[in-house]
Amino acid sequence: TSHTDSSAKLLDAVTEGAEKGVIPASIFGDPDLYRQELRNVFGRCWVFLAHESEIPAKGDYVLRKIGEDNFIVVRDDEGEINVLFDACRHRGVQVCRSDSGNTSHFRCPYHGWTYNTKGNLVGAPLWRNAFGGMSKENNGLASAAKVASYQGLVFGTLDQSAPPLKEYLGGMAWYLDLVFGLNEHGVEVLGPPQRFVIDANWKSGAENFSGDDYHLGTLHRSVWEIGAFPVPFHENMMGYHIQASPGHSLSFSMAQDANEPGPNYFGFPDELAQSFNTTNISADQLEVARRSRVFVGNVFPNFSMLALPMTEDGSNHPPVGILTLRTWQPHGPGQVEVWNWFAGYKNLTPEQKDRAYRAGLGTFSMGGAFEVDDTEPWITVSRNGASTAAELLDFQLNYEMGKPGVGISKPVKEWPGPGRVQWTRYEEGVQRNMYGFYAEMMRSAPGQWPSLVFPEDAAADKEHRA
Ligand code: FES
Ligand code: FE
Repeated sequence: TSHTDSSAKLLDAVTEGAEKGVIPASIFGDPDLYRQELRNVFGRCWVFLAHESEIPAKGDYVLRKIGEDNFIVVRDDEGEINVLFDACRHRGVQVCRSDSGNTSHFRCPYHGWTYNTKGNLVGAPLWRNAFGGMSKENNGLASAAKVASYQGLVFGTLDQSAPPLKEYLGGMAWYLDLVFGLNEHGVEVLGPPQRFVIDANWKSGAENFSGDDYHLGTLHRSVWEIGAFPVPFHENMMGYHIQASPGHSLSFSMAQDANEPGPNYFGFPDELAQSFNTTNISADQLEVARRSRVFVGNVFPNFSMLALPMTEDGSNHPPVGILTLRTWQPHGPGQVEVWNWFAGYKNLTPEQKDRAYRAGLGTFSMGGAFEVDDTEPWITVSRNGASTAAELLDFQLNYEMGKPGVGISKPVKEWPGPGRVQWTRYEEGVQRNMYGFYAEMMRSAPGQWPSLVFPEDAAADKEHRA
């Protein structure tokens, strides 16, 4: 069989297996499937690029990626954010050579074509002599097809047929609100992102942050052994797994009893919590945040978030709440670059911001006490995924936890937010949701989009409108 046949066969298996909980190991290593991911997943989905607070002033820019391709994310003279393909219109040379900065123009190093912050060509050496009266108009930088922000999070897509960002986020928007909209001040990044490369497949990170709480007791056992986390292990496994809408999943550590003692609000400082209110969110959203000890989630394909109480050195001192944002940047089927931002509410004191940043660095970062736990297993997932044995043995992985009738996790009917909700975090529906949508995106024809709502929600919506 040809390569294309084998990746088509893999996709058939994912489509069928996502519901059953059986995923072929080769999706973590197959090079043909990866090329299709670049086109059908990263080339079409809304991809997280930056937080607005990274480019607050006119002319501020950062260099980011959609799939493997470079884009300049820049705020122009009118304050609009543009996402420009970093390739000169003349010969395709990379124009922007700095990770971030402030500028009025980008000048290509090869022959000097110069573009403004909207990507328009505004000058070129010897233009009149060399090109005569030729119009500059059609010679600007190319732009992402669409750019939009939600709760300060800037996304872009290369697909003109992509639905609006809010529609793409679907049920996940409700959960982004309750993390980023807790008060009217909003969130800002605490410095530039940390970046590190792991020899792993991007999907391992994305599925882990979709709600792989099962690994906490084994891989992160030391967190509890040294008393670094303020909630006992088994209590922490209590909580909700939520498939917010197709593709997007999350998990809350939360006691079922609303009056259970804290930590509340992901461990953010009490003085900060006093500023949380219903200016931008509902009373239900505020209450879910109040009761939450940990929030972890993934916006398909590769934007993850984590909020939890931690200390600077992973010790048992009083913890501080940390909020991290991250992307899993694909770099071949067997390599991922992690971009890791620490973030905080704008009205934190400088001391609190400093402590939150250092707590993040000390725990979930390249050199963090707990981050290093995760990376090693993921390396072996991609190595085995690329193996001849996985292909020849048609080796299937088990994602069955929490299927109907499997285990102690049960569907929850009474829940104020959107999505499919399960009680207790012993559950892998959150990952099955990611792979179900993944398979649909991978198979979708150009211009066609899979459903962004679950069938039961679509039916309820119809009823509501009727
Ligand atoms: Fe950019 Fe020639 S390649 S100016
Ligand atoms: Fe982990």
